[in-house]
Amino acid sequence: MIEDPNARVYSLAQRTLHWLTVLLILITAPIALIMTDTFGKVSDAVGGFLYDSHKLIGVIIFFVVAARLIYRLKRGAPPQEPTVPPLQALAAELTHWVMYALLIMIPIGGYIALQYYGEIKLFGWLPLPSFVEPNKNLSEKIFSIHKLAGFALIALVALHFSAAMFHRLVLKDNVLGRMWPSQKNLG
Ligand code: HEM
Ligand code: HEM
Repeated sequence: MIEDPNARVYSLAQRTLHWLTVLLILITAPIALIMTDTFGKVSDAVGGFLYDSHKLIGVIIFFVVAARLIYRLKRGAPPQEPTVPPLQALAAELTHWVMYALLIMIPIGGYIALQYYGEIKLFGWLPLPSFVEPNKNLSEKIFSIHKLAGFALIALVALHFSAAMFHRLVLKDNVLGRMWPSQKNLG
C-alpha cells in the first residue's frame, strides 16, 4: 500500500495558522518590551503607537488562536513520529497545550486589565467596548499577571524552538517537517 505523505503532517490550514501566530508573537512581544522600556522616554505619539499596536496585535492573536484551537480540537494532529519516545511526546504535548492556554489567557488578561484602566480607544479612534467601572489598582494587579504570563510564554517558545532545532539538526527526524510551510518531507 502507498503511504499518504499528507497523513504525516499538519493540514495546510493548521500550518498557516501556526506560522501566522509565530509572526504576530514575533512582532508583539518585542513591542511589549520596547514600549515599557521606553515609557516616558519617547514622545506620547510614539509611545501611544507602540502601546496601541501591542494591544491590537494581541487582540488579533486571540482570534487567530481561538480559530486555531477550535479547528485543532475538531481535526486533531497527525500521528506522532515513530522516532519520538513516549515520554518526550508527552512533554511536547504538554508544552503545546500550555502554550495554547497562555495564548488565550494573555490577551484576555490584557483586555480585562485595560478595561479596568478605563482606556477604551485604540489609536484614538478604534473603540474597544468597555463593560466595567475603572479600577486602577485592580488593573495594575491584572497587568502584573499579564506580564508574568507573557514572560512564561516567551520562555516556553524558546524551549519549543530549541526542541524543534534539536529534532532537525541532531536527531534529523521529520518533526519539523510536520509543521513546515511546504509539504516537503524533511525527514
Ligand atoms: C498574546 C498576546 C500578548 C502577549 C504575548 C503580551 C505580552 C506582554 C508582555 C510580555 C508585557 C510586559 C512588558 C514588560 O513590562 O516588559 C505586556 C505588557 C502590556 N500588555 Fe500585553 N501581551 C499580549 C496581549 C495584550 C493585549 C490583548 C492587550 C490589551 C488589549 C495588552 C496590553 C498590554 C499593556 C497595556 C501592557 C503594559 C502594562 C504595564 O505597563 O504594566 N497585551 N504584554
Ligand atoms: C511564537 C512562537 C511559537 C508558538 C506560540 C508555537 C506554538 C505551537 C503549538 C501550540 C503547537 C502545537 C500544534 C498542535 O498540535 O496543534 C506547535 C507545534 C509545532 N511547532 Fe510551534 N510555535 C512557535 C514557534 C515555532 C518555531 C519557531 C518552530 C520551528 C522552528 C516551531 C515548530 C513547531 C513544530 C515542528 C510543531 C509540531 C510539533 C509536533 O508535531 O510534535 N514552532 N507550535
